[in-house]
Amino acid sequence: MCGIIGYVGKDSAAPILLDGLRRLEYRGYDSSGLAILNGSGMEVRKCSGRLQNLRTLVAGSPIKGSCGISHTRWATHGPPTDENAHPHLDNTGKLALVHNGVIENHQSLRNGLEKNGHTFRSQTDSEVLAHLIGDIFDKQTEGTAEMRLVDAVRKALRKVTGTYGIVVVHEDAPDFLVGARLGSPLVVGLGKGENFLASDVAAVISHTSDAIYLNDHDLVYMTGEDFKIESLDGGSVSFEVSRVEFTEEQVEMGDFPHYMLKEIFEQPDSILNAFRGRLSDEEASAKLGGLNLTPQQLREVDRIVLVGCGTASHAAMVGEYLIESLARIPTEVEIASEFRYRNLPLDKSTLIFVISQSGETIDTLAAMREGQRKGHRVLGIVNTVGSTIARESDGGCYLHSGPEIGVAATKSFTSQVTVLALLAILLGRMRHLSMAAGKQILQEIRELPDKVKTILEQSDRIRDIALKYLDAEGMLFLGRQFNFPTALEGALKMKEISYIFASGHPSAELKHGIIALVSEDLPSVFIAPSDSVLEKNISNIEEVKARKGPVIAITTEGNEEVARIADDVIYIPPVVECLSPILASIPLQLLAYHFSVAKGCDVDKPRNLAKSVTVE
Ligand code: M6R
Repeated sequence: MCGIIGYVGKDSAAPILLDGLRRLEYRGYDSSGLAILNGSGMEVRKCSGRLQNLRTLVAGSPIKGSCGISHTRWATHGPPTDENAHPHLDNTGKLALVHNGVIENHQSLRNGLEKNGHTFRSQTDSEVLAHLIGDIFDKQTEGTAEMRLVDAVRKALRKVTGTYGIVVVHEDAPDFLVGARLGSPLVVGLGKGENFLASDVAAVISHTSDAIYLNDHDLVYMTGEDFKIESLDGGSVSFEVSRVEFTEEQVEMGDFPHYMLKEIFEQPDSILNAFRGRLSDEEASAKLGGLNLTPQQLREVDRIVLVGCGTASHAAMVGEYLIESLARIPTEVEIASEFRYRNLPLDKSTLIFVISQSGETIDTLAAMREGQRKGHRVLGIVNTVGSTIARESDGGCYLHSGPEIGVAATKSFTSQVTVLALLAILLGRMRHLSMAAGKQILQEIRELPDKVKTILEQSDRIRDIALKYLDAEGMLFLGRQFNFPTALEGALKMKEISYIFASGHPSAELKHGIIALVSEDLPSVFIAPSDSVLEKNISNIEEVKARKGPVIAITTEGNEEVARIADDVIYIPPVVECLSPILASIPLQLLAYHFSVAKGCDVDKPRNLAKSVTVE
């Protein structure tokens, strides 16, 4: 939610900031803006709408200067207007601020500042912070402008309740950036004669691969040559410089028209990366060293709680079926936003996993901290290296999927399920899972990338099916057992990028109310591979057909019975039942993608959404 980038160095700031914003646009795209110190003062350009609008504005009215800040917004307080776009200025117009997060006590702070003569230009919570810092700065008389600015940021943040990742500049302190974080990510990029502050390393990857991931309560100030990180109360903090793993090419679209399609097509590799080096043939098990748990500790686990949001919660649901069937450990899935506020009874032998692609989702992060506060070991299944969950969890596994930029999660889902399958095998092999069964599943995991390739080859056919149903008023997604979560994920993909009503259900639930919706205009997508519940699914397909409902079926190659009754069939290769969601989810991703493109929707930046949900 919101992307920020600041630059200080010798080069022209505007192109660097605009390029950085392009890489951060996935975080929010309601408005964008920049403020640059031009040597004699501050210049601001900002406007509502996509980044292209800001580019046009800057092209028509260029800004010189080599120190500046910029922002791409996902609106929380105040609609996406020009006035509400960041950066926000203080009362004097000499200080500019960009902010990611929510200032919860903004109204009382605003009231106080207004009483003291401040005039606000926007409806945002963020502008209050700019005024507050400026107000304190203006009242300071001792020290250099740079250190007065640092001090003002420090004092202002002590008055604030909420979350923030901020970067601040001031006309009186040219070539100087101040940043701080609490609850919203902020990364320092270290260059030669230039430094950066950004929400995500992707924004600075063209300039440097050396990054410092700031922690909550860290405050940083920097010139192009130097930087200092302290705690908000002025104490010293430890930090390490990390080498960014991914390359510039990985965050570009290449020859694909959309990030989502690129990421769907990356799945043979991303699934391979999720299990590479983690299969142990000798033990017919999986190796997950990052869990930081001894075999004895793993044997003592008698309950597992999997926590996540959105797609990650659907992967968790597949994980529940996997762990319960392979390891026989009672497992439950908790939506992070619910888990964090309920008092779930947990005992010492309960293991908690938080699952998150970004590693920054605020509810998942808060759920992790809540679990830790109660003395539990909380492990992370995370994609983004260096993210807050990756750093604060007590161990876990990376997905190694590479950056996922399309707002709709695709490759992260299949990698999350792959890692959960490895976890289930590991726990299973310490309990009841036989060596033969373990070996068979390992072999099936190895075969996944090639099987995914055969599904991707059907992309054009799936597009034709999508075009056939373009006038549908909505879509139902139905599946049983391991593929009930797949149905939920298929429905989420369809609604978030195509804006049509879609809902996922266990197939058998149809008769408990949902079947009332079935009509010629409402297609049902059945996930019905050749598995232990195929016959049951077929009965449910028949029930829909009997009521003239069109049926698109995902089934296993060679299944003629499903082909005979469904209107359209998409085949997946044969696969062991517990891994079938990995294959079955891919045609659903492609169906949603082609449907969305044909409808003219913005696939990578669907309305009202942002990739990383860092506000509650
Ligand atoms: O980064 P996370 O995995 O924590 O994100 C969780 C959800 O916000 C995310 O999966 C969201 O539901 C996707 N847009 C779904 O495609």
